[in-house]
Formats: sequence, structure tokens, C-alpha cells
Amino acid sequence: MPSNKTLLMLPGDGIGPEVMGEIRRLVDWMDRRRAVGFDVKEDLVGGVSYDKHGTPLTDAALDAAMTADAVLLGAVGGPQYDDVARQHRPEAGLLTLRKEMDLFANLRPAITFDALLDASTLKPEVAQGLDILIVRELTAGVYFGEPRGMQTLEDGTERCIDTQSYTRDEVERVAAVAFDLARERNNKVHSIEKANVMETGVFWRKTVTDLHARGGYQDVALEHMYADNCAMQLVRWPKQFDVIVTDNLFGDMLSDCAAMLTGSLGMLPSASLGAVDETGRRKALYEPVHGSAPDIAGRNAANPLAMVLSFAMALRYSFGLGDDADLIKQAAQNVLNRGVRTADLMSEGATQVSTTEMGAALLQELDALAA
Ligand code: IPM
Ligand code: MN
Repeated sequence: MPSNKTLLMLPGDGIGPEVMGEIRRLVDWMDRRRAVGFDVKEDLVGGVSYDKHGTPLTDAALDAAMTADAVLLGAVGGPQYDDVARQHRPEAGLLTLRKEMDLFANLRPAITFDALLDASTLKPEVAQGLDILIVRELTAGVYFGEPRGMQTLEDGTERCIDTQSYTRDEVERVAAVAFDLARERNNKVHSIEKANVMETGVFWRKTVTDLHARGGYQDVALEHMYADNCAMQLVRWPKQFDVIVTDNLFGDMLSDCAAMLTGSLGMLPSASLGAVDETGRRKALYEPVHGSAPDIAGRNAANPLAMVLSFAMALRYSFGLGDDADLIKQAAQNVLNRGVRTADLMSEGATQVSTTEMGAALLQELDALAA
């Protein structure tokens, strides 16, 4: 079906192409059963792009990403690129996309599915009903701060620098996203930094406090917490959190931690969003949090559900198709309730399936739900 909804698929490396394959089937299903057509394009990112073009992201792929309504990315990276210079590494392709598309707000929801409670390393009463949203700043901080790199001092000493840097606007815009999202949830935001040690931590805390008081967000409960304490609290009693807003590096670490509370990194989707423009559009990229998992790549063993849930986030945030997003989430939940599990989620009594079998089970469930 011809469509004005453009979707760019960047499967990338490792298990990326395998999990993206299940999205193609889902896109076909949406067309057939929901009369929602997408104009799908595909390109390379990461190591596969480096192998073919000598760069992890070509200008053409970046152009396609800039103009698509939504970008779906599988994963980037692999051990064969460990010795490649940093600007040519697979990760550089992803970081360029984030920076050039100005995707400053990275939403990483950590939600426990009841069927997977036994997969969590936490006690069931600690993990059950967990629903946290981490809002990670994604285009500034130590990931992009200058100066960076190696120096040799006059006495010959080697020195290496990374720079943590934030402007007021960079903090305010991501905090505003967190406050707005909290209003649709349990109205509570924890702002995370290291104000006890870092200048940028003091600035982060002050800026978030100012925005809260003067930006019309007093109805939202705001608490501040140091990042180390937050890591501890996440495994101690995660249900105290609703929305967590934090910088790029702390967000990277805390979201892996929060992901594992739910049982498997293989379940976690993410949305990276830009600002809303005059026409109401916002650039967006959706990707699973799990990464390329080279150890299981090519074996039809990966869990496609994080990619599937990332596609559901695209339906919700980029295409205004919240009902379809809910349907997909429900289908995933039903499949898990039936004991269907990829290897990462396996537990006693469950049925182990491959990537494509999980995708097929999901479509079957969707057929039943949409009937
Ligand atoms: C993530 C990843 C990336 C990051 C890597 C692949 C550059 O770990 O999205 O969490 O560090 O941001
Ligand atoms: Mn990460």
C-alpha cells in the first residue's frame, strides 16, 4: 500500500539483522490486518557499513535518517572492530546519528512482565509490577564534550582527557521531557547526578530545580539523588522510582541496571526523540537497549521482543498509533504468558524458541487479538 509514513530500517551488526527481520513481518502484518502502510527504506550502519564503505555511517544513510518519519535501528558493534580508530568504529555511526538528528531525549522504559518474574535476579516482590521510565540525555555530556583525547605533557607524561559539559538549555530541554512524561504516569521525577563531586552535577541539580519551580512544573514531585545511590536504590527497592532523568553517561549505566531488573536486557526498548518542530514533527530513532550480542549472532537465537517493543514505541511516539502499540505489547505479554521463551528468558517448564519462532508466535497472537 502506498503510504506517507516513512520508516528507515538500519539493522546494523550482530543480532541486529535477525531482530529487524521480525519487524519486517510485523510491518507486513500492520499493512494486511490494520490497513496501516509504511514506506520502508533500508540502509547500513555500524560495522557492516564500515566494511562496505569505510565509514560506519554514509552521508546517504544519514540523509535518509534525517528525512524519515522514524528510524529503526537494530544494533551496532562487534569484537572484530576493537582495533579500528574511534571515529570509524561502529558505535561512531550511532553517535553521529544521535548528534546530527539532535535526539536529546532517550526514553528507556523498564517494565516487568509477570510471566518473566522468575527470570529476574531480584525477589519477585521487589520486581513485580515494576514500571520505571529512564529519560537519558543523549547528545551532550562526556560522550561529546571537548576537549578530549591524548596529550603529551612537556615532561613526556601521557595524559588523556574526556570532558563532561552541559549548557543550561541542554539540561532544561531533557528535564522538561521528563516532567511532561511524569504527568502521564505517577507524577514523580528523580533527577540524578553527582552534585557532591562534580561541577556539572551542581549545575544539573540547580537547573532542574529552577525549571521545576519556574517552568510551571510544581505539580510534579521532584527529588534529587546521587548517581551511586540511585544504582544502589535500583536494586534495593526499584518501585520507589517513576521517572528518572539523568545525563548521558549515568543514563547509559543506570538503564542497563534497570533493564536487568526486568529479567533480561532482551526485553528493553528505547526511543530517542528530538524537539518538536513548527509542523509538529519530531525526529526519532527507536532501538533495543541490548546491543549486538556477537556471541549469539547468526544463530536465530536472539530475543526479538526488545526490537518489537521499540517498533511499538515508534507507533506511539512517531505515528500516533497508540492503540496498535498497545496491541503489540499485549500480544508480547500473551506470548510470554503461554510460556514461549527465547534462550535469554528460559526457565523450567517453558518452551524454548528461536528468533523467528518467537516472531511467528507474536503474529499468531496478534491475529487472535485483532480478530
Ligand atoms: C547504548 C549503547 C551505546 C551508548 C553505545 C553502543 C555507543 O551502550 O545505547 O546504551 O553507550 O550509548
Ligand atoms: Mn549502553
